[in-house]
Amino acid sequence: MMDPPSRKETDRNNYPPVTGISRDEHIGMVREIFTTVPGRYDFLNHVLSLRRDVAWRRFAVRKMRFFDTFHLLDVATGTADLAIEAARRHPAIRVTGIDFIPEMLAPGREKVARRGLAGRIRLLQADALGLPFPDASFDAVGIAFGIRNIPDRLAALREMRRVLVPGGRVYVLEMNAPKNRLWRGFFAPYLNRVLPHIARLFSQNPAAYLYLVDSITHFPPPPAFLAIMEEAGFSNRERYSLTLGITSLYIGQRSENGGLVKVPQTVIPANPGSRSGTGAGIQSYLTTQDSGSSPE
Ligand SMILES: C[S@@+](CC[C@H](N)C(=O)[O-])C[C@H]1O[C@@H](n2cnc3c(N)ncnc32)[C@H](O)[C@@H]1O
Repeated sequence: MMDPPSRKETDRNNYPPVTGISRDEHIGMVREIFTTVPGRYDFLNHVLSLRRDVAWRRFAVRKMRFFDTFHLLDVATGTADLAIEAARRHPAIRVTGIDFIPEMLAPGREKVARRGLAGRIRLLQADALGLPFPDASFDAVGIAFGIRNIPDRLAALREMRRVLVPGGRVYVLEMNAPKNRLWRGFFAPYLNRVLPHIARLFSQNPAAYLYLVDSITHFPPPPAFLAIMEEAGFSNRERYSLTLGITSLYIGQRSENGGLVKVPQTVIPANPGSRSGTGAGIQSYLTTQDSGSSPE
């Protein structure tokens, strides 16, 4: 007689829907999934998104502004693609990437070393819900396709706000399911039918990609996510709709005085590594707003 499948095997065949489980179960599932996918993670990301993931991270990095610490924190950095893109685009900055799964960080460290960026990018194992950094350490905090995997989004955003300098910004890239005809006619069939086949061909854990579809489908729609950002204390909130709304870039600013803050917009660093060397910059006043412009 065959042995009954172990719990791990059962889970890998069929993860439960994210709506029907507790936060702790969701976190356990995320840990299990990202421990098993790193080998083919980058490859499948590029194939399944038709390389749009590269363009989305590039767009986010182009929006980043550095003016005080010249230090970016990449939360849920995974294999460090956002960290690497930012370091290339902004030669004056240092980047710290954190992730709670060492198996994801290992290929990230190899890529960083291969690209000669080990002096500027460090990758640490840490939890987004308890960042091991003092308050006001970073000009910018990025998180690409990570917030969907953190069930307590408000707590995670509050933690990101804590480590930002006043005037610093958070950059959140995330996918969601736009409820339009294009979604129903193309994206939903693609995600539900085509993507699982491709994942079955290439991934050691194809069920992880069913979780991917489920977590995208149940991520809050943009207005609801912007409301969570507001509750977490971010002002000047903006949303950019990417690739017909399947992905969004959300930007929010840490301000000490609500809606009207004075922040440097473009600064050439006098001394990139030092917090005092902010150099001269163009100053501008920003007011609280939510915008939905599309860059593509
Ligand atoms: C979909 S991957 C995104 C990786 C990378 N940012 C990218 O753009 O490809 C999500 C990552 O979030 C990490 N993660 C999820 N919850 C986390 C938490 N609470 N703290 C730290 N990392 C977390 C996972 O380990 C995984 O590497």
